[in-house]
Amino acid sequence: MSKHIVIGVTGGIAVYKILDVASRLRKLGYSMNTIMTESACEFVKPLSFQTITNNYVVTDTFERPYTWDVEHIALAKKADIMLVAPATANIIGKVANGIADDMLSTTVMAARGPVIFAPAMNTAMYENPIVQENIAYLKEKGYLFIEPDSGWLACGDLGAGKLPTPEKIVEYVVGVLQKIEENAKEEVKRDLEGKHILVTAGPTIEAIDPMRYITNHSSGKMGYAIAEDAAKRGAKVVLVSGQTNLECPKGVERIDVRSARDMYKAVHEHFEWADAVIKTAAVADYRPKEMSNHKIKKNGDNLILELVPNPDILRSLGERKTHQILVGFAAETQNVIEYAEDKIRKKNLDFIVANNIAAAGAGFKGDTNIATIIEKDGTITEHPQMYKSELGNVILDKVKDYLS
Ligand code: PMT
Repeated sequence: MSKHIVIGVTGGIAVYKILDVASRLRKLGYSMNTIMTESACEFVKPLSFQTITNNYVVTDTFERPYTWDVEHIALAKKADIMLVAPATANIIGKVANGIADDMLSTTVMAARGPVIFAPAMNTAMYENPIVQENIAYLKEKGYLFIEPDSGWLACGDLGAGKLPTPEKIVEYVVGVLQKIEENAKEEVKRDLEGKHILVTAGPTIEAIDPMRYITNHSSGKMGYAIAEDAAKRGAKVVLVSGQTNLECPKGVERIDVRSARDMYKAVHEHFEWADAVIKTAAVADYRPKEMSNHKIKKNGDNLILELVPNPDILRSLGERKTHQILVGFAAETQNVIEYAEDKIRKKNLDFIVANNIAAAGAGFKGDTNIATIIEKDGTITEHPQMYKSELGNVILDKVKDYLS
C-alpha cells in the first residue's frame, strides 16, 4: 500500500483526535504529511504530528517565508487524498470562495485527488445558513464531507458539530482510498481471465437438535473479499459459503451450505473444474454424533454431548489433487507458523495463509487481517495489517504465480 495522505489540521478543540486518526492510518501503512494552520498549533504542537506520521509538518508560522510557494504545489501533487480535519467554518468558507491565503487553503486549491472535510464546530455555527451553503456548494463541486456527530460539544451546547470518532474518520478515508485503488485495478487488471477459482467462506453449522447448533465466529468476509477480487480480475468464481449476512459479490456463483459435510460435497463436486481452491472457511472439526429430531429437554442433570470428527475437506482435496493449486488458511492463537507448516505437509498444500485470530485487527469478523504466507518450499512472507480485499489480491497474485 503506497498511498499518500495530506492531513490539513485547522484550529479546534478536537485537534487531539486527529493525532489518533494519523496514528491509525500509519498503522494501516499509509504515508502522510501534515499541514497545520496557525491556530491548530495553539492546540497541539507540530512535533506531535511529526512524530506520529514520521514525516515533516508544514506550518504557516515557520516555513512560510521560505518554502510556502513551492511547498503547497509539491504537497498537492504528492497527495493521493487530502483530509481536512477538524475543518472549521473558516477553512470551508475560504475554499468555497476561492480564497487561498495560507499553506492549507492553497494546497487544497491545488489538490487533484479527493479532498475530504470533517467539519467540527459549534452547533449554531454549523447550522448557520452561510456555512451550510458553503458545504452544499463544495459538495456540488465534488468535495467530500464526513458528517459531524451530534452530542455535547466542548462549548457546552448539545447538537450537531462534533468531530466524528477517529474510527469513523479512518473508515471513511480508507473507503475512499480503496475506491481509488479499485477503480485503478478495474481499468488495468484482468489477469485471471479464463481461470476457475473455487473459494470457501464462512462458518459451518453442526446441528445438535432443531433449535441448537455448534458454529464459530467466521463472518465470511475474508472469503467473500477473495471471491470478489478474483471475479474482478476476470476469473470464473464459485463461492461455497456457510451461513453469512453478506451479499454475493458481483459475477460470482454462490453455493450455500450449512454443515461441514455439505461443504465437503459441494467442494468435491467443483474440484475437477477448479484451477485453484482457496479455503478460507472455518470448518467445524467436530459435529454431534447424533442430531436429535426433537428439542433436547433439560432435566437438571449434566448433558454430555458426544462429538465425532468431521471430514477434513482440505486434506481430502490434497489427496485428490492433480493440477489444482491448493491454498489453505490457518487460524491459530499460538505457534502460528509451526502449526501452519504442519498443515501444508499434512494437507498437501501449495501455500497457506496463517492468521493469528487472537491478534487485534486480524482474523474473524473485522475488515482487516494480518497474514503470514508460508509456501511449500519454506518461503515465509509476513504481511502488515491490511484490508481483507487487499489481502485477497496478494493471495491471488501468488495463485497466479503458481498457475503460471
Ligand atoms: O470469515 P471471517 O470473519 O472474515 O474470518 C476469516 C477467518 C479467520 C475464518 C480466516 O481468515 C481463516 O483463518 N480461515 C481458516 C479457519 C480454519 O478453519 O482454520 P483451521 O486452521 O482450523 O483449518 C485449516 C484449513 O483447513 C482451513 O483452510 C480450513 O478451511 C480447512 N479445514 C479445516 C477443517 C476441516 N474439517 N476441513 C477443512 O477443510
